[in-house]
Amino acid sequence: MEHKNSFLILFLAPVKEFLEDDSVSEILINGPEQIYIERRGKLERTEAKFPSEPSLRAAASNIAKSVQRLLNDDYPRLDARLPDGSRVHAVIPPLSRCGTVIAIRKFKKDTLSIAKMLDYGSLSPDAEKLLRALVLMHKNVIVSGGTSSGKTSVLNALSSFIPSNERVLVIEDASELQLQQEHVVSFETRRPDKNGQGEVTIRDLLASSLRLRPDRLVIGEIRGGEALDLLQALNTGHAGSMSTIHANSPMDCLFRMETCALLSGIEMPLMALRSQVASAIDAVVHTARLSDGSRKVVAISEVLPLKGGEYQVRDLMAWQTEAVEADGKIRGAFVLKEPPTFVGQASLLGIELPLTQ
Ligand SMILES: Nc1ncnc2c1ncn2[C@@H]1O[C@H](COP(=O)(O)OP(=O)(O)OP(=O)(O)O)[C@@H](O)[C@H]1O
Ligand SMILES: [Mg+2]
Repeated sequence: MEHKNSFLILFLAPVKEFLEDDSVSEILINGPEQIYIERRGKLERTEAKFPSEPSLRAAASNIAKSVQRLLNDDYPRLDARLPDGSRVHAVIPPLSRCGTVIAIRKFKKDTLSIAKMLDYGSLSPDAEKLLRALVLMHKNVIVSGGTSSGKTSVLNALSSFIPSNERVLVIEDASELQLQQEHVVSFETRRPDKNGQGEVTIRDLLASSLRLRPDRLVIGEIRGGEALDLLQALNTGHAGSMSTIHANSPMDCLFRMETCALLSGIEMPLMALRSQVASAIDAVVHTARLSDGSRKVVAISEVLPLKGGEYQVRDLMAWQTEAVEADGKIRGAFVLKEPPTFVGQASLLGIELPLTQ
């Protein structure tokens, strides 16, 4: 059988070893002479090198060609998903100062299950109960966190709690999510062609999805004006939806939603927008990559109604670092904070919540 990364190996022989090594998740090429990899959450410099800048540049443009795209002076940036599922982003000089820059995020066939996350210490059994309850109770959940903090993996794991009798519509820029349910309809956006034609955005696909009788909407990532469309959809009865956003804390997630909604170009008084955000989003699950390279669900927070025009969040669970050991490993615990406001509703539905003392 062909190796799953054979496609890339053809063009990127100098990093073949890392393409084949499943413990390597990312390969970062900063010009011909400087190549880093990410392994188990940590960056390492490698000895690998390309023979020259022209050969690296040729490799990058061959990758582009193989997916019917261009990488040249007119199109100096490439963002592509390869047939094997890996993601490649490349930038060529003179935009990049150190030669051709390529970042490869390898495709992982088996995304992280909740069981594996528990095993890795990325969340606690109590956190699992909370997450399951949020999904079963059709709460709208946003997974927030920094770059590569594990947002998409948590979203994928969250989606595993969706009951299999529901119709799920998935919208992504680049397919990463792998829902296990049977009744799933997945969409992927399309970039404009060379003449700037034919673009299909998340907003467009969201409009279609709303007409396709979704029980749940799962949106890979919110980055722009689609936030407003999503907020409106959630506030008009598409409960139980989920997405991710780049943010530094659960509170920041709400501000980011607001900022993204403003990018829609639709004018709305700030207070009206805020109340849409606060009422549409029920909970934020915040992820982080800690200094020892481990990724964790560091907070689960419930979003409360606005108070005096300000957002309010209630932490249900939070990670607390207790010590950093000599080898840099972080020790700590997932601590239950306040009970959710929906305790009563959960018990009526027979949904188990973790016990807070
Ligand atoms: N809990 C975890 N334990 C170990 N590795 C993880 C964990 N969560 C995610 N990863 C790995 O970290 C990398 C980034 O994960 P993921 O794509 O979920 O992050 P992200 O926050 O969505 O990234 P981006 O900012 O690029 O959207 C992947 O290689 C993934 O397999
Ligand atoms: Mg992601």
